[in-house]
Amino acid sequence: MTSSARKLFVTTALPYANGNFHIGHIMEYIQADIWVRYQRMQGHAVNFVGADDTHGAPIMIAAEKAGKTPQQFVADIAAGRKQYLDGFHISFDNWHSTDAPENHDLARQIYRDLRDRADGSLIEVRTIEQFFDPEKNMFLPDRYIKGECPKCHAKDQYGDNCEVCGSVYAPTDLINPFSALSGAKPELKNSEHFFFKLSDPRCVEFLEKWTQDGKLQPEVANKIKEWFTVRTNPDGTQSEGLGDWDISRDAPYFGIEIPDAPGKYFYVWLDAPVGYLASLKNWFDKGGPKAKHGDTRSFDEYMAAADTEQYHFIGKDIVTFHTLFWPAMLHFSGRKTPNNVFVHGFLTVNNGEKMSKSRGTGLDPLKYLSLGMNAEWLRYYLATKLSARNEDIDFNAEDFMARVNSDLIGKYVNIASRCVTLLQKNFNGEVGTVDLSAIELQASPTDHPVVLTDQRISAQWLGKLVTHYYEQREYGRAIRLIMAFADEVNRYIANEKPWDLAKPAGDRDRLHQVLSNSLNAFAAITRCLAPVLPATAQSVSKLFGENNDIAQNVLHVCLQPGERIGAYQHLMQRVTPEQLEALFEAPAQAEQAPAATETIAAPGGEELAPTITIDDFTKIDLRIALIVNCEAVEGSTKLLRLTLDVGEGRTRNVFSGIASAYKPEDLIGKHTVMVANLAPRKMKFGVSEGMVLAASHGDEKANPGIYVLNPWPGATPGMRVR
Ligand code: MSP
Ligand code: ZN
Repeated sequence: MTSSARKLFVTTALPYANGNFHIGHIMEYIQADIWVRYQRMQGHAVNFVGADDTHGAPIMIAAEKAGKTPQQFVADIAAGRKQYLDGFHISFDNWHSTDAPENHDLARQIYRDLRDRADGSLIEVRTIEQFFDPEKNMFLPDRYIKGECPKCHAKDQYGDNCEVCGSVYAPTDLINPFSALSGAKPELKNSEHFFFKLSDPRCVEFLEKWTQDGKLQPEVANKIKEWFTVRTNPDGTQSEGLGDWDISRDAPYFGIEIPDAPGKYFYVWLDAPVGYLASLKNWFDKGGPKAKHGDTRSFDEYMAAADTEQYHFIGKDIVTFHTLFWPAMLHFSGRKTPNNVFVHGFLTVNNGEKMSKSRGTGLDPLKYLSLGMNAEWLRYYLATKLSARNEDIDFNAEDFMARVNSDLIGKYVNIASRCVTLLQKNFNGEVGTVDLSAIELQASPTDHPVVLTDQRISAQWLGKLVTHYYEQREYGRAIRLIMAFADEVNRYIANEKPWDLAKPAGDRDRLHQVLSNSLNAFAAITRCLAPVLPATAQSVSKLFGENNDIAQNVLHVCLQPGERIGAYQHLMQRVTPEQLEALFEAPAQAEQAPAATETIAAPGGEELAPTITIDDFTKIDLRIALIVNCEAVEGSTKLLRLTLDVGEGRTRNVFSGIASAYKPEDLIGKHTVMVANLAPRKMKFGVSEGMVLAASHGDEKANPGIYVLNPWPGATPGMRVR
């Protein structure tokens, strides 16, 4: 560790230990890992740590369901982390747990420091009224209370908002509330809760400064500004300014007991960010920083040092915790606050809906790896999309394949595969003199305003510019610049035609120059991509010999004359359509079983029917039908009589149980879909010659509504639906 080296303490958000990683987690780790690797290449001393977020009611309940102690439950989850982290080349220095002793100690100490402040305590005890489950003997968090929506009367809605009409309310507003854990009728009971007084003028003043001094991303800072003026209460009403924060929960709770308050536990979000410090302390106590950077200080000394920089990578859903609660906890307990919090948006897959927070959908990271897909493809693809803004990004399968194949294989690897073999054959792998000005990218100053003094970017300048973009987390810009340079190299090779120069009549000196210049450019590009493609960079290092350890010297670009380059080996394969098809293929029925840790609701209120073959399906003849007439059925409140034209030169009579949802005049003249080869059925009111298709929820009482199918415009009577 040189004295000019920065001392960086970097974290990602601590994932809840109630499920495996999904692709959203992996995206966050890749974003942080690229930054960390870039900093390490610059010679800075980074401590990059993570941990499992283990506490809280959901994990306690999931453990109980799984028949495990919470400790055993989270240990089992933790055991599954390594394969993901190693698989995607995520270089955490340490991985720990918020249930570890370090975290218990640190959380309790921070709390005491807040409570015992000389200028007046920031902790206050208040009595609040809360629902209590008399069977489970516990206070119920909002999401474990259900009942009928007070607005639209939909049944089985959660304690804080209605999923049918979208209204927001307090659990006490629910009609006929019941405990989602036991089904028991909850009772209102008083309980003492501990509050962190964020509304205290000391906190407000500090946080306004901390969040508005320009360090945060502008869009994040602006959003936070609103929280100082208005805030939305659980019942949907709005209040002025910051509210106090309820930091306690009653036993039974899987968490950390509050000092001097038996039976009271810290709310999970109080001790979760402290887990950053606990993991770092664990890393120091194991001697990690000493072995890695020669840093012999203690954890406390490191954290107190003025030049220690602390950064947190997080998603946009947990900004409040990291820009208000966490800095306030640290500052008012007499500690340094983070230098910055870097907020990213959410990842969606194939334009899919936002992935559920606890259960990502679409792209299973382990399946990706098990199909033999290269982790560095994903790292590269995500890097092309990431910027310093907290925008959502989408993983699109076709786009992914095009980017990887055309950039990494077509532009980057192509340089080496064209030049290395020629150098071997003609010069025994020995590099000649390099002329940096032979390959330069013409840039406009508006593209790269910060570093560029000259309009031409050589291999040397490339590194400087790219460095700047990595520092700013503008990975997409870095990659675009690198690929523009790679285009320039390929253009140079195409113009110089080394394969012609290598012919007996060719110019050998010129050939040697062209190959040396091109391979030098390739080395420069490799160094620039190394934070994104660490394993590939490693393979190239081997090829280029030990003087060129790419991870060690990002800015040292030149190959030296006389250096030997080894025999060419494949650096990277192409993505194939078959791999993507397999990746997104619906899992077989057996694998679809929900993870033991959570129950997935049956879609539409009922389990899927057993699998059928395509032959089974084609037995059902579905046709487009025009509803030429429709009338009520005397003596039935359920049925409507439909007269359907299925293009047969005659009409059919069909009875349908949709009278509760449609008036006859709603349907006349509309197209729908019918089962046309259903055996005619004699009913009380006449013969039904088929069936029209309609959607409804499995639990019709709780989710009433019938929806007749209607084809897109253009379908005509008699067309088959297949
Ligand atoms: N346990 C809390 C964090 C505590 S930090 C002291 C938590 N856990 S989480 O597992 O739900 O999310 C962990 C991180 O993954 C968060 O930063 C979250 O924003 C991020 N992501 C979750 N889903 C995501 C996507 N679909 N896309 C990108 N990041 C996503 O919140
Ligand atoms: Zn409702």
